[in-house]
Amino acid sequence: MASSAVIASHLSKRFGHGAHQITAVDDISLRVEKGEMFGIIGPDGAGKTTLFRLLTSLMLPDEGQVRIEGFNTLKQYKEIRRIIGYMPGRFSLYQDLSVEENLNFFATLFGTHIRANYDFIYPIYRYLEPFKKRKAGNLSGGMKQKLALCCALIHNPKVLFLDEPTTGVDPVSRKEFWEMLGLLQQKDITVVASTPYMSEAMRCHRIGFIQNGKIIGCNTPQNIREAFPWLVLSVRSTEMFRLLQDLRAYPDCRACHSFGAYQHIYLPKGSDPEDLHRYLTRKRHNDIRIKETDATIEDCFMDLMAKKGESDGH
Ligand SMILES: Nc1ncnc2c1ncn2[C@@H]1O[C@H](COP(=O)(O)OP(=O)(O)OP(=O)(O)O)[C@@H](O)[C@H]1O
Ligand SMILES: [Mg+2]
Repeated sequence: MASSAVIASHLSKRFGHGAHQITAVDDISLRVEKGEMFGIIGPDGAGKTTLFRLLTSLMLPDEGQVRIEGFNTLKQYKEIRRIIGYMPGRFSLYQDLSVEENLNFFATLFGTHIRANYDFIYPIYRYLEPFKKRKAGNLSGGMKQKLALCCALIHNPKVLFLDEPTTGVDPVSRKEFWEMLGLLQQKDITVVASTPYMSEAMRCHRIGFIQNGKIIGCNTPQNIREAFPWLVLSVRSTEMFRLLQDLRAYPDCRACHSFGAYQHIYLPKGSDPEDLHRYLTRKRHNDIRIKETDATIEDCFMDLMAKKGESDGH
């Protein structure tokens, strides 16, 4: 369908040579529809930033191709840069310039003016306006994030790429930030964002899990959770560390991970929680609590990563 906002076909990117060669992006194909909010989740070094650079035409792939709103990143990068906004992981702001000067700088770069897009950025800029004379370097993390978003939006882009926009920002600012992205959605902007926070990924229409340069799963949050193949029990006792070890040694245990105050154990569907209770009692655990729970996105990601590891022979 030519109308998709982002179409990536069989993208690969390698770094280095010989034995030191790394395939940062490994045959990734991806399609993001217009107006969609697409989340990318993956561990450190998974290839997220490299994928963003390929999608935004800042780096050329070794294989494959990208089309943004129909434009090819190889041949039509000038057109692409006019219609995309990119917020790189590390701050793109000029720390010695004020809020207002940063915005003016990015506006000039795109041959526009703050006034031309004022209404468009206002829902975000209103948080910054009281500090417009303050140097970007002296803003809080959350404010810097908002300013970086304003700068990425100043030329009214159709597709917005955000590489870990909320990493290291306090929870309140993170929430505000995603609410702002929700507002952009109402203006039909396509958003592609990476995040290490599963709760944020849940706000996306679809999520792509990336590991070792490959997309290992891609679907709506609801479909991903419903497809989880195991029974999830959240378990606690008075000795959480020993509990984790004992749960991992439980014969039916598929995997077990710590989730806040609980351990999440994955068992074959239909398993009886009472059997697990008896096992833990035999292991002399006290105050044992077991409850059945829905799989979180994190559970799903952990399971997909483990499966991929097994099929790769790790
Ligand atoms: N310019 C480069 N030269 C050599 N290797 C690189 C380069 N850029 C990335 N890599 C390697 O490619 C792999 C993917 O890196 P990338 O930065 O895309 O991952 P990431 O998912 O963004 O990680 P993070 O969560 O740390 O930001 C890593 O092994 C990284 O070391
Ligand atoms: Mg990165």
